[in-house]
Amino acid sequence: MPGLVIIGAQWGDEGKGKVTDLLAERADTIVRFQGGNNAGHTIVRDGQTWKLHLMPSGILHPKKLCVIGNGVVIDPKVLTDELDELRRRGVDTSGLRISANAHLIMPYHMLLDHAGEIKLGKLNIGTTRRGIGPCYADKAARLGIRVQDLLDEKILKKKIVAALEPKRLMLRSYQRSEELDLQTMTQEYLTYGHRLKRYIADTSKLVCDRLDRDELVLFEGAQGTLLDIDHGTYPFVTSSNPIAGSATIGAGVGPKDIDEVWGIAKAYSTRVGAGPFPTELEGPIADELREKGHEYGTTTGRERRVGWLDLVALRYAARINSLTAIALTKLDVLSGQERILVGTAYRGPEDSEFEHFPYHQTVLHHAVGQYESLPGWDEDITGARSEADLPPEARDYLRFIEEFVKVPIALVGVGPGRDEVIWTKAGVGMHGSALTAA
Ligand code: IMP
Repeated sequence: MPGLVIIGAQWGDEGKGKVTDLLAERADTIVRFQGGNNAGHTIVRDGQTWKLHLMPSGILHPKKLCVIGNGVVIDPKVLTDELDELRRRGVDTSGLRISANAHLIMPYHMLLDHAGEIKLGKLNIGTTRRGIGPCYADKAARLGIRVQDLLDEKILKKKIVAALEPKRLMLRSYQRSEELDLQTMTQEYLTYGHRLKRYIADTSKLVCDRLDRDELVLFEGAQGTLLDIDHGTYPFVTSSNPIAGSATIGAGVGPKDIDEVWGIAKAYSTRVGAGPFPTELEGPIADELREKGHEYGTTTGRERRVGWLDLVALRYAARINSLTAIALTKLDVLSGQERILVGTAYRGPEDSEFEHFPYHQTVLHHAVGQYESLPGWDEDITGARSEADLPPEARDYLRFIEEFVKVPIALVGVGPGRDEVIWTKAGVGMHGSALTAA
């Protein structure tokens, strides 16, 4: 089972960091393949909290190969700051490797992200304003600056000039700002290059070699399926493909190298930023779930929108990612709810009903969740370590999800700590020796 992809099956923030961190212990290599520092993983380990934005979660495990793949967009300031902070806290970062082909977020990308959102006014996407969209746009326009360009002053300068040229108009109001000065920018980025040089490598070759040796490689997705630029709720999406297929492109491996795909889903739903959210909740239940689940963005601190679990969307995620297993996180947050609703269909315009995720934007924007109401439980489940420790209503909740989505649940999160998980029988059966063995 050498290639295992972990993706977010909802709108991001599903708790991928914790699951990846858990599985990383068994893996030899951990690869990030898309997104940038718009992502944020919170990992609680040995009583310490780690907030990572760019670094693969595996970095906390000594002696693992941790790869930032070609599909990631890198803000080198954030990356070098993250490296400094990890080193300061005693983490060995020597296993990090950065693809020479990954694209760089430049100061003008952040300014353009900001300006673009302001220009959209009420129609804004609610981006993280980290420059992600403009950086991917430059990549597609073949005006991107790549990690390898940091190592050659002449090339770097030439590429910055070429990239800035078509943006002059939009950047007019920033023309005097020092961060856009060619000389300053070039020097700043050369310094990053100098600092990152020892980590830069042909990461596709490194990862493929490990797969050839039958070693376990984890491909760690950022964001979530419904934020996918092709398959998500466009235009309220991110600018990359967070779905499983993207792992091959963003890491430089072939489709046959992927053996398993795990979808991480929260026991309820959250979304940050604008866009359709058919099972969204407002009022006291939303407030309660937000507080209990600490639903505030790791990257931007923004309050997350909260809703019931949307099984129409989860079944869609199972389909387009070829999910082989689900890891359901934060089940403990639902404790204390008398009834738990799960979205099993949508009602659209003119009372139309949808059992499958609608492709049409207008339909999606008007879709309202139709629910099945399931009994809740009162017990504190954070101490549960096997399914048998869970109240029957919680077990029934898990079975309902599995039967609806037709994907087994392998792992259930019952608290923030890394040991606060339950490996289900299905999980142990599927992956027992490779993943669950101590
Ligand atoms: P961008 O990725 O910054 O361009 O933002 C586009 C959309 O994706 C916005 O709605 C963001 O809130 C959302 N987004 C980006 N990264 C994450 C993430 O890691 N978790 C949840 N939402 C995200």
